[in-house]
Amino acid sequence: MLEVHTLSKRFGGLHAVRDVTLSVPKGQIVALIGPNGAGKTTTFAMIAGFIRPDSGTITFEGHDITGLRPDRIAEAGMVRTFQITQPFAGLTVAENIRVGAFLRTPSPRDATANARAIGTTLGLAPFLDRPAASLTVAGRKRLEVARALATSPRLLLLDEVMAGLNPAEIHDIVAMIRTIRDSGVTILLIEHIMQAVAALADDVYVLAQGSLIAQGPPRAIADHPAVIEAYLGRGAAAKLAAHA
Ligand SMILES: Nc1ncnc2c1ncn2[C@@H]1O[C@H](COP(=O)(O)OP(=O)(O)OP(=O)(O)O)[C@@H](O)[C@H]1O
Ligand SMILES: [Mg+2]
Repeated sequence: MLEVHTLSKRFGGLHAVRDVTLSVPKGQIVALIGPNGAGKTTTFAMIAGFIRPDSGTITFEGHDITGLRPDRIAEAGMVRTFQITQPFAGLTVAENIRVGAFLRTPSPRDATANARAIGTTLGLAPFLDRPAASLTVAGRKRLEVARALATSPRLLLLDEVMAGLNPAEIHDIVAMIRTIRDSGVTILLIEHIMQAVAALADDVYVLAQGSLIAQGPPRAIADHPAVIEAYLGRGAAAKLAAHA
């Protein structure tokens, strides 16, 4: 459904993303993991059209979308969430979600109805008429997903929607993401919380210092020496193996 081929981006002297190639099959949940600063969000920003890649191609449902604007890509059926949530604080939760719904309908009535339905599905029913600013961190993360879902994507890019949540909230968001997948939306997610990745992902790509260092199902990835080293430092895999 999504094919990313040798995508690269430099910021001055920094090679933030280097020759990243990945594939997201329809109906799956694919995870992109890696240490802080690995280039995960930059990869998302290029896929969703917010940053123009220096080189490489992005193909969505058979169409080359490389270099298209974010609104065009959203229209085509792919949308991202933001790692740092920035709701319109002065608007209600429902009004925030409605902004996304207008991509598919010019009718304020329909947009409102869609927004309220999506908010309700995502557990925001009690908060729909409250200011977005009144939400907890977990509520803001749900709102961020709801705003994206309101554009009726077929592929949803989730950037760390569990960061800052407690274990009970993470459990609930994992269930929410499964529900979204089961409704027919394919998902590519960036996540640091490995339990969530293990619970959700069909396939995992590992990025470190801009380059892919491993790919595979969650169980294989967790034992991969290059992945352990990327997270814990050089020599860590050998030390762990010696103690096993
Ligand atoms: N607009 C920018 N200008 C210059 N450097 C940038 C820019 N955006 C990101 N970077 C740098 O590129 C590298 C990759 O950043 P990116 O945000 O993609 O990492 P990440 O994997 O999402 O990290 P995190 O897990 O902390 O969110 C970092 O070194 C970052 O400082
Ligand atoms: Mg990031």
